[in-house]
Amino acid sequence: MRISQHTFEATVVDLRDITPTVREFTLRLPYDAPASSWKSSPGAHVKLHLAVAGQSLTRHYSLLPCLEAGTLRIAVKRAMPGRGGSQAMRQLHVGDALQVSEPVNQFKLDLNAPAYFLLAGGIGITPLVSMAQALADRAAPVSMLYCASSSEEWAYGEDLQSALGERVQAIAGHAQDLDARIAALPAQAQAYVCGPVALLQAVQQAWHRAGRAPALLRFETFGAASANAQAFKVLLPRHRLELDVPSGASLLDVLEQQGITPMYGCRKGECGLCALPVLALQGDIEHHDVFLSQHEKQSNAQICICVSRVSGCITLDTAYRPDAIKPPLETAHAR
Ligand code: FES
Repeated sequence: MRISQHTFEATVVDLRDITPTVREFTLRLPYDAPASSWKSSPGAHVKLHLAVAGQSLTRHYSLLPCLEAGTLRIAVKRAMPGRGGSQAMRQLHVGDALQVSEPVNQFKLDLNAPAYFLLAGGIGITPLVSMAQALADRAAPVSMLYCASSSEEWAYGEDLQSALGERVQAIAGHAQDLDARIAALPAQAQAYVCGPVALLQAVQQAWHRAGRAPALLRFETFGAASANAQAFKVLLPRHRLELDVPSGASLLDVLEQQGITPMYGCRKGECGLCALPVLALQGDIEHHDVFLSQHEKQSNAQICICVSRVSGCITLDTAYRPDAIKPPLETAHAR
């Protein structure tokens, strides 16, 4: 599944390091870009098209509140080694141009809930800054927990403080007391969570233990690939291909580079659209998605190819695509 979006050439007009590892970018859109290209609702993101080592990469970044008409603000955490996107962003200077999509919102804030719990882990704060601001503007009952690796990494702490005052708590380290925090919420309260997969899994479990409706827990994950990602091999019998998946690319990236077009949606391990059946496995799967259940992950019968990785070699069944099948067995190396 692809979502059709207009793309604009934007110019970097400001760079700002807001923590030791997070850099904020302000991008100016062309003067004739419609207001819908920079006006967005809380939780929206844009797609940036980046060039890394001769390859074209697409990365999704949540939008921060707009400070000036015709501009977009995003914040990017430096990932070491990462999958290339953050390094490419770090190469940008004021005046550089890049392709940016119009905003899309797959993490919408429902403004009709009786109360809200916002939970951010690390750079997952970015979509929640707009949400906190929107809820504060409406005087909605809201509490917020913001977890980062250290106090130096509390990006936008002052903005949150001025919007929510004592209703926001920032801590250095992992989220604690999730059961108690969820138990303290009124019935039908909604939770909005953005952060790493481990944080989301912890909230999902606590939410489930509390007997709350899954639909009231809304989430977005990021950067699910491990920082220590290793290269691995994938065999695709339908395409008679054996491919290397390098540390800086996902399985989905590598398949696309070969002209194979699997279904996908979020590219973040949330929607499950990219899940492919596993035909054989030598080694193990590192499941980084939040779509498959624990039981499904243990069975290793499927893999979400946008985020999950393998130690060893995996054989996958791709959908039948006569246009993508290549005649002889060949070995291709994705870089
Ligand atoms: S594209 Fe959504 S889980 Fe992979």
